[in-house]
Amino acid sequence: MKILKILLLFITVSVSAQQGGMWIPSLLKGMNEAEMKQLGGKLSAKDIYDVNKSSLKDAIGHFNGGCTSEVISPKGLLLTNHHCGFGQIQSHSSVENDYLKDGFWAMSLDQELPNKNLEVTFIVRIEDVTKQILNGVTDTMSPQETQSLIQKNTNALQKGYTNKETWQDTKVKAFFKGNQYFLFVTESFKDIRLVGAPPSSIGKFGSDTDNWVFPRHTGDFSLFRIYADKNNRPAEYSKDNIPYTPKHFLPVSLDGIEEGDFTMVFGFPGRTNEYLPAVAVEQITQKVNPTNIKIREEALKVMDAAMKANDEIRIQYASKQARIANYWKKWIGENQGIEKSNAIAKKQKLEEQFTAEMKKKGLAKKYGTILTEFDRLYSKFEPYAVKRSNFIEVFYRNSELMHMMFRLYQLEQAAAKGDEVFNKQRDYVISQLTRIHKDFNAEVDRGIFDAIIPLYEANKISSKFYEHTAFTNLSAGMKVLKGKAKKVVESINKDSAYIFAKPYIAQFYSDLEPNYQNINGEIAKVQKQYMKALMEVLPSDKYYPDANSTLRVTYGQVNGYAPRDAVYYNPVTYLDGVIEKYVPGDYEFDVPEKLISLYKSKDYGQYADSNGKVPVCFIGTNHTTGGNSGSPALDAHGNLIGLNFDRVWEGTMSDMNYDPEICRNIMVDARYILFIIDKYAGANRLIEEMKLVHPKNKK
Ligand code: ARG
Ligand code: ASP
Repeated sequence: MKILKILLLFITVSVSAQQGGMWIPSLLKGMNEAEMKQLGGKLSAKDIYDVNKSSLKDAIGHFNGGCTSEVISPKGLLLTNHHCGFGQIQSHSSVENDYLKDGFWAMSLDQELPNKNLEVTFIVRIEDVTKQILNGVTDTMSPQETQSLIQKNTNALQKGYTNKETWQDTKVKAFFKGNQYFLFVTESFKDIRLVGAPPSSIGKFGSDTDNWVFPRHTGDFSLFRIYADKNNRPAEYSKDNIPYTPKHFLPVSLDGIEEGDFTMVFGFPGRTNEYLPAVAVEQITQKVNPTNIKIREEALKVMDAAMKANDEIRIQYASKQARIANYWKKWIGENQGIEKSNAIAKKQKLEEQFTAEMKKKGLAKKYGTILTEFDRLYSKFEPYAVKRSNFIEVFYRNSELMHMMFRLYQLEQAAAKGDEVFNKQRDYVISQLTRIHKDFNAEVDRGIFDAIIPLYEANKISSKFYEHTAFTNLSAGMKVLKGKAKKVVESINKDSAYIFAKPYIAQFYSDLEPNYQNINGEIAKVQKQYMKALMEVLPSDKYYPDANSTLRVTYGQVNGYAPRDAVYYNPVTYLDGVIEKYVPGDYEFDVPEKLISLYKSKDYGQYADSNGKVPVCFIGTNHTTGGNSGSPALDAHGNLIGLNFDRVWEGTMSDMNYDPEICRNIMVDARYILFIIDKYAGANRLIEEMKLVHPKNKK
């Protein structure tokens, strides 16, 4: 009996070993630790997360709340993706000093470029605070009552929390759909300088065509440095700040990887939805995604054409285009993956199994209405979910003039709340308008508007108001915003663009948003029950909390995959593949001359693989999502072997349906990063401050 149990345990472990999951670093002891060892890992749970001495987690920083970054030298050198540092690289660029096109390399500390509004946050400690946060919460409370009690408990907990240094912060986050809560003590550095970036023809090689696709050949990395005050503590930018001495930094492996090797990705995944009911997945993929895809497709046609025709517009629209194109393409892949893997049918099957098991266990009274409630709520939800999402695309994300009108509408609302609220809101609107106008072209924006408005409004709309509005020009717009609240409100109501946009925005606030939020609140309540019920009715050790922008560990192995019949992708790509894809002068597939000549002379230094080739990217079974970009890929010992930046096309559905057969994350090989820094850029000073290691004793 005992032997059988051990055997069974072994089988479940080895099966679930490849099943994905994003685990909480402070809870790795127990099952994860064993599973990681079984996959080839050599680290203990304490090597990864420890509060008493330095551990791996001390090298992992949340990069401005969106991406991940890691410290790779004792002098605070920070590695992240090119696409994560893209906004900063763009902001230092001009037609004359085009760092996007040509790359940027600081050859000494004093050439490193400071950045406004950029911070990197480390996790000091994680604590389970479920009891305190859910104190007094009952199942009979309405979603609003629950929310406000949780908020109250959270505030009280944070206010009374003393187990931290004065410069540290706390953050409380919900896990398992609100069944569990954790508190994070954090430390944020605010003086982060740009150190190096390859040209886009390396850092964004393949651009949109290759985005979300394997085989991949992108050197998607950039380098920053954390600066601290004289006491090595976080501080605002000052020329007197000095390079940060980290508690831990990652050694970089020169030995590379082979198929089957253990890999671990440590970072800040943003959002996943692995426990949705089938109805929700159906709604997202069949109603919401297709309409948004269409809107972005039309906007992108206009942007792409304008960027190709004009260099100034190309730089201005670079970040925006990349952002819009990224999820446009992701949604397409997600939809295809969900369909191809029969994810909806699989979820339905799981729900049948759940229902049967629930009845068997006598839990029908407790959980019997969950699935029918989902059906009822999602059908009520659908029109709002679709229309609200489309509204956000049209009036917020794609047309910047409409985005400005959205801000003006908020300003008009603020005027009703007194001068203090109004003035504060006006400052905010001015900052937004200033930011938008930095990269704004009225003609391009009008083209985008003309292309997308028919997808939102059935009646024919003329965009003639673009010719009369004050807000296509920053200083004209600013003038309208001068003076007392009453006067400002009167003036904006005379603006032609505002007159057009106001009824749509009013409808958003009076109808779309409140209905959406109300139903969403009810859905969240049922989802919380469902999560709990799943774990009780179908117990298993494979439940992990959905991503929520908190620090997580995911692990797996280097592994190829078969996307289609008779097709198999090897897990590693090489510089040879860059040259294969090379299209001279192309905006996506051009290759810098210097790189071609390094390739021709095989001047690879210590960065080639044992087959004599320079590796570029590789894939593995690590379960990642947006936010994991810039996360380190670590070997069994915790050395850096790669830099996570993307997922494969067939597997982008992993946010709702992780399938170990075809879901792969894509990483840049650490040796390609070193090769570019050293041989391409000649920035040896950076190589010298790193710790290069040979964990496999390969030389
Ligand atoms: N797809 C990756 C991620 O979601 C990389 C995006 C880089 N942007 C781009 N448009 N190529 O962030
Ligand atoms: N590229 C994504 C990011 O920026 C990662 C992913 O979605 O796989 O975080």
